[in-house]
Amino acid sequence: MKIGDIDIALVLGSGLSEILASGAIPAWSEGGRIPFSELKLPVAKLAGHAGEAVAGEWHGKRVLAFAGRVHGYQGFSAPEITRSVALARAHGASKLLLTNAAGAINEQFRAGDLMLISDHINLTGLNPLLGSELADPFVNMTDAYSPRLREAARNIDANVREGVYAGLLGPNYETAAEARYLRTIGADAVGMSTVLETIAARAAGMEVFGVSLITNAVAAADTSHAEVTAIAKQAAARLAALLDGVVAAA
Ligand code: HPA
Repeated sequence: MKIGDIDIALVLGSGLSEILASGAIPAWSEGGRIPFSELKLPVAKLAGHAGEAVAGEWHGKRVLAFAGRVHGYQGFSAPEITRSVALARAHGASKLLLTNAAGAINEQFRAGDLMLISDHINLTGLNPLLGSELADPFVNMTDAYSPRLREAARNIDANVREGVYAGLLGPNYETAAEARYLRTIGADAVGMSTVLETIAARAAGMEVFGVSLITNAVAAADTSHAEVTAIAKQAAARLAALLDGVVAAA
């Protein structure tokens, strides 16, 4: 199968890959699946990160969903991590919807909460624009996460949280001291993805929406990858409903 023109690219994070196949989204109609390898996208090996692109139509919009992503902690470079964004842009996508699983820094957040990303702090030490040949690599990052799409999401789900996502390199989870530091610098949630994709998309002029599924309190003694993916799967239906409204508004 070939990718045609697309309107919206969607990235599905840890434990979230199956939401399109779950039947939870009546307005979604799948057109086909393409393995990342066929698209010359880098492939991750970790369980819970599938690695295929799913093409389809959603509220009359042509959507390409990336089920799984690669991360800096797997040794991938920023250009590799953001190749999916470049691919979507090259096929005409003007919107990028990002999802991830994240740990809560904000003490009011609970596992299973959805947090609209209002802003981010890039602590990965990586940047897709390093060495960029863009005429203007000094990309403006104010309102990088579309206020318009965040408002649409709040109208769909009144209980959704909103806050700042800190993107770290990983792969280890945070120490208690790092958790205190992240709280001090204004983060509400922490994860190991998303920020580089947002930078690449904003550099390409795309409108970005991001949502974190809170899977655990940060620096809790019992956090594990298994727990993170299990919580993500449980909350997938609520995330699907939120995305359904955002796609309709996008
Ligand atoms: N820290 C970093 N990344 C994460 C976490 C966390 O606690 N939970 C899910 N992704």
